[in-house]
Amino acid sequence: MPKTFAVIGAGNMGGALIGGMLKAGVAAASGIRATTKSEEHAAALRTKFGIQETAGGNREAAEAAGVVILAVKPSTVPAVVEEIRDVLREDQILLSLAASLPIGVVERLAGKRLAVCRAMPNIPVVVEEGATAVACNQAAKPEDRAVVEGIFRAVGVVCFVEEEAMDAVTALSGSGPAYIYMVIEALIAGGLKMGLSREIATKLAEQTVLGAAKLVRETGLHPAVLRDQVITPGGVTISAIHELERHGLRAMLISAVETATGSARQRTRAIMDKLKTEG
Ligand SMILES: NC(=O)c1ccc[n+]([C@@H]2O[C@H](COP(=O)([O-])OP(=O)(O)OC[C@H]3O[C@@H](n4cnc5c(N)ncnc54)[C@H](OP(=O)(O)O)[C@@H]3O)[C@@H](O)[C@H]2O)c1
Repeated sequence: MPKTFAVIGAGNMGGALIGGMLKAGVAAASGIRATTKSEEHAAALRTKFGIQETAGGNREAAEAAGVVILAVKPSTVPAVVEEIRDVLREDQILLSLAASLPIGVVERLAGKRLAVCRAMPNIPVVVEEGATAVACNQAAKPEDRAVVEGIFRAVGVVCFVEEEAMDAVTALSGSGPAYIYMVIEALIAGGLKMGLSREIATKLAEQTVLGAAKLVRETGLHPAVLRDQVITPGGVTISAIHELERHGLRAMLISAVETATGSARQRTRAIMDKLKTEG
């Protein structure tokens, strides 16, 4: 495992990765250099993590690292890679978090044959419960993939996919927390409507979602089997399930993922068109 990481653009996502890597021992504070745009944010991260953090300084950070993590916004990636291009080496791993930016574009910008991986994490990485999918180019060796896996395992679960799957991943797990927040919000509202206090309704709703997900993972059972275990004939749960089916809960979520996948595809095309126009 290379011990040196450059986090170029240590904002929400980059900061969460740094926190997770330090906590899991994937990297030591001395092995991470991070950059931001503003000095104010750099200073805050320095205080929080005790790492070497600079506003700007992308070239120095990239040059010193075994793994260069691009954690800036997708629109900033071309300028940043242009800036660090001549210090990139073929023995490095270039890991991009930029949503919708294809590996081929990052490879072209880097202009070198190095391992390039593209990751789609989601926001629960902040509490080390993220779901991340990763696609890598041909140059990435098994040991490079292992390094990338170690980074994201520090902040949740990780799986490797073909790059074509990235739009569906974006729609399912990238945006997914927003769908589940709506479910939690609605369960709380249901509790409130039935006279529960806000505090009790919130506590019960959040734990219900957490516990149900944990049971799916730990039993390995299909969710439909687990759902059936909660149902008693003529009981309370089946009357609620009837309502959910009547309003098309499952069809709605399937359509949401389908629509969001289309939207992610469109965004990729728009980014490609913009990059082509800019030459
Ligand atoms: N947030 C998510 O849920 C999520 C999920 C999947 C993928 N992603 C991807 O993760 C990436 C980062 O997203 P984010 O939400 O973490 O964004 P963010 O919080 O805005 O972080 C971006 C960081 O980049 C820094 N920056 C801007 N220009 C820079 C430059 N020229 N050199 C060095 N640093 C620079 C900013 O510095 P300042 O702090 O000084 O402004 C900021 O710290 C994006 O590409 C996004 O597509 C995010």
